[in-house]
Amino acid sequence: MTNSITLREHWERIHETKPSDKVSWTQNDPQPSLDWILDLKLDPKDMIVDCGGGRSVLAERLVDAGQLQVEVFDISIRSLAQAKLELKSEEARQNISYRVCNVLDYKPEKAVCVWHDRAVFHFLTEKKDFETYIELVEKMAPEHVIIGTFNGESPEICSGLPVKHYQTEALATLFSDTYECVKSLETVHRTPAGKEQDFSFVHLKLRKP
Ligand SMILES: C[S@@+](CC[C@H](N)C(=O)[O-])C[C@H]1O[C@@H](n2cnc3c(N)ncnc32)[C@H](O)[C@@H]1O
Repeated sequence: MTNSITLREHWERIHETKPSDKVSWTQNDPQPSLDWILDLKLDPKDMIVDCGGGRSVLAERLVDAGQLQVEVFDISIRSLAQAKLELKSEEARQNISYRVCNVLDYKPEKAVCVWHDRAVFHFLTEKKDFETYIELVEKMAPEHVIIGTFNGESPEICSGLPVKHYQTEALATLFSDTYECVKSLETVHRTPAGKEQDFSFVHLKLRKP
């Protein structure tokens, strides 16, 4: 990040300049995240947190599927304000909570069952930052962690910021002291401009003591 603007300001500008369906990461059908979370057959009251969820439709799809406690947090207030405006149902308005927060400062307000992160962890390119993220997740100890990052031929820069690429095994290894990898997938995301981005997804399950 340049000294002249903060990370938060950077993301506010990104969210200001592009509509939700034109950002490179947009998904009409938020897969594999949605199916992976629904496959867990959660209790409707289990807490699901979407880290850096921004304007993703994942939270609303989860509520449509019967989940009653979904939190979306993001460093950008603009992304969350827009996400709220785009909600289609009253159930979603009632069951999704929003919080403006940098992931590195995140503190859960209640026990978290599922931590989901698509395309946020990979922006933490400094060792101290991705280690802080891993410590934070391990301390919070959600039973399930689902993370998707760039991989393979994806760009080295996304939204003007450098990005780290992970193969699924390397991603799982970072959390392996406390989590075992129970599912992984290498997949391709097609951007609205028709470009392909390689993604790695892992589903990590908390190890029993
Ligand atoms: C590439 S977008 C992905 C959005 C969403 N997860 C999805 O898959 O549609 C990255 C999102 O993370 C947010 N973000 C970036 N850095 C963040 C940080 N350090 N803490 C919280 N949110 C962050 C951005 O504002 C943006 O909404």
